[in-house]
Amino acid sequence: MAHVNVFDTTLRDGEQSAGVNLNRLEKMEIAKQLERLGVDIMEAGFPASSQADFDAVKEIADTVRGCSVTGLARANKRDIDIAWEALKGGAEPRLHVFLATSPIHMTHKLKKTPDEVVETAVNMVRYAREKFPYVQFSAEDALRSDRDFLVHIIEQVIDAGASVINLPDTVGFTTPDEIGSLFRYVREQVPNIDQAVLSTHNHDDLGMAVSNSLAAVENGAGQIEGTINGIGERAGNAALEEIAVAFQIRQDRYDFQTGLVLKEIKRTSDLVSRLTGMQVPGNKAVVGRNAFAHESGIHQDGVLKEATTYEIITPAMVGIDSNRMVLGKHSGRHAFKQKAEELGFELNETKLKEAFASFKDLTGKKKEVTDDDLFAILTDTQTEHEDQPKYELKAFQVQYGSINRPTATVLLTKPDGEEAEKANTGEGSVEAIYNTLDDLIDADVHLQDYQLSSIGRGRDALAEVHVQLTVNGVKASGRGSAQDVLEASAHAFLNAVNRTLYQHKRHEGYEKVQV
Ligand code: KIV
Ligand code: ZN
Repeated sequence: MAHVNVFDTTLRDGEQSAGVNLNRLEKMEIAKQLERLGVDIMEAGFPASSQADFDAVKEIADTVRGCSVTGLARANKRDIDIAWEALKGGAEPRLHVFLATSPIHMTHKLKKTPDEVVETAVNMVRYAREKFPYVQFSAEDALRSDRDFLVHIIEQVIDAGASVINLPDTVGFTTPDEIGSLFRYVREQVPNIDQAVLSTHNHDDLGMAVSNSLAAVENGAGQIEGTINGIGERAGNAALEEIAVAFQIRQDRYDFQTGLVLKEIKRTSDLVSRLTGMQVPGNKAVVGRNAFAHESGIHQDGVLKEATTYEIITPAMVGIDSNRMVLGKHSGRHAFKQKAEELGFELNETKLKEAFASFKDLTGKKKEVTDDDLFAILTDTQTEHEDQPKYELKAFQVQYGSINRPTATVLLTKPDGEEAEKANTGEGSVEAIYNTLDDLIDADVHLQDYQLSSIGRGRDALAEVHVQLTVNGVKASGRGSAQDVLEASAHAFLNAVNRTLYQHKRHEGYEKVQV
């Protein structure tokens, strides 16, 4: 079977999803998990887009050793120089440089002639090769580009030193037939194509990203790009977990394999979903909550008699473990630590102590603490900056009834250590809390989005809230979990505000240049 390289762009294209803003620790946690999952190449970000992205990419490149770490750059010397500074400490430094090749993009966006585009691409690939041992060139909007122009530019950039050529379907416009025939054409027409690997990168605007990726591989792509859970710009990117499982399940059709460790899929999906706040739809292939739930009586009966009647993928294959050990109030620190490690968390002593205290607190409220609860506690502890100035919720009270106007009283500590208390009202109890927090916070805060979900199932499940705010005009997302919906709501609000304080403290530009 031929090996297909997996190029994960969850931390770059995935992070371009509307409303997603990961902090440095969150990115690092996802990077470590992607390494465990076995991706070949990890696109950690776009270093020239902001100081925050630069720092995160550098830290990931300096830490991750099990795969090649790459970063995105536009075709200009400044972007390439910044990317080199961020990536040079990596195990296998790699640059991903892109330039649009479609008539629409060249005319309206770049305002360059095709010859100028070829010249810039060649010069920038050559320049990048003076620093990077591996350079990938992406012909942005390739699927709406002229085929012969693509053949021409690909030949030139390979001569200039590019060893990977990516043909992205930037706007999710293509079909499996069409992309298959483009990859065949390029393979047949580009004379030096044997000196490069062809890569496929598909967006899901028409819901065909995964099918298009598979078709490209069948026609010569040696690398697949995508994200976990298919997150990404607009409708998202091809979901890598779906592609890897399709290769596995349909070995009769696909003579290809990836190096992905399938058992790590569920954890990776959960981590990405929790940290980005992009919930996985229940019916999502491979990782959705209902992907293995058999509802109809006929199906249940069939599965009980013989699982393969209605189940083509086993939950265990993708790391869903039904015999999960639960911890309770008698569980000690040792069992907790062991469980944390089993769930993939390496906590330092301070964080372990903090997480254990949150766990103990929860055991006072909930009979059984599940893996999902622990996962929430551990991700929150692990991704919180230790030196973070913050607003902290001390206590709150809400008076609510169907006749009275909801009123909230909130007591919190401010970043300078002072305590403050205020009360305000709202149309509903969450609004009453948010209006009160707004009064207490020394910034102009506006709520843009609010999402409530439960962690796990059951009446005593934890509530989880994700919010998007603007804080003094800067976008920030936050999450909070607690047994009570209102408390989770307050934590999520403060979490978002605290993130902007931290960015400010580190003089990090929060707003990014988007591609
Ligand atoms: O979709 C796209 O074209 C991209 C490029 C930067 C590769 O993400
Ligand atoms: Zn993309």
